[in-house]
Amino acid sequence: MRIDYGETGRVIASLCEGESDEVALMATVVCELHHADDRFDWTGFYRVTEPNLLKIGPYQGGHGCLVIPFSRGVCGAAARTGEVQLVEDVEAFPGHIACSSTTRSEIVLPVWDGAGGVLGVLDIDSDAPGAFGPADSEGLSAILTHVFGRVNAT
Ligand code: SME
Repeated sequence: MRIDYGETGRVIASLCEGESDEVALMATVVCELHHADDRFDWTGFYRVTEPNLLKIGPYQGGHGCLVIPFSRGVCGAAARTGEVQLVEDVEAFPGHIACSSTTRSEIVLPVWDGAGGVLGVLDIDSDAPGAFGPADSEGLSAILTHVFGRVNAT
């Protein structure tokens, strides 16, 4: 099973219609994404709960580490730089945090709110090496912008 980002984006948009609560939106996005693609072995959000600190939010899959400083891991790099992290081989990523021993590749995207602030990051792990590509980055970014662009919108 391979995700159709257009179709999944439409389903998520209709489920999230009129909602602006961050956790409710995150839980809904994670559920729809996680069940849409066999590559997605762990799907979850980390939220910025204080300056330079991420804490786990809604997720699906095995155990997720609870706290990640901006200075550490793939998630920290995405929050710190504001740039999508496409990791073909987690063993080759300096400072990768292994919450699961089976993860081989990963994609982490910053989540921007309507005021241009970083709310957190979306992290998707795969047990397959090199599982993610530019199409995933584009498809996921479009969904995140549509859903979270209304949070804190001025
Ligand atoms: N691997 C991530 C940590 C979170 S787990 O993948 C759920 C990282 O390096 O930041």
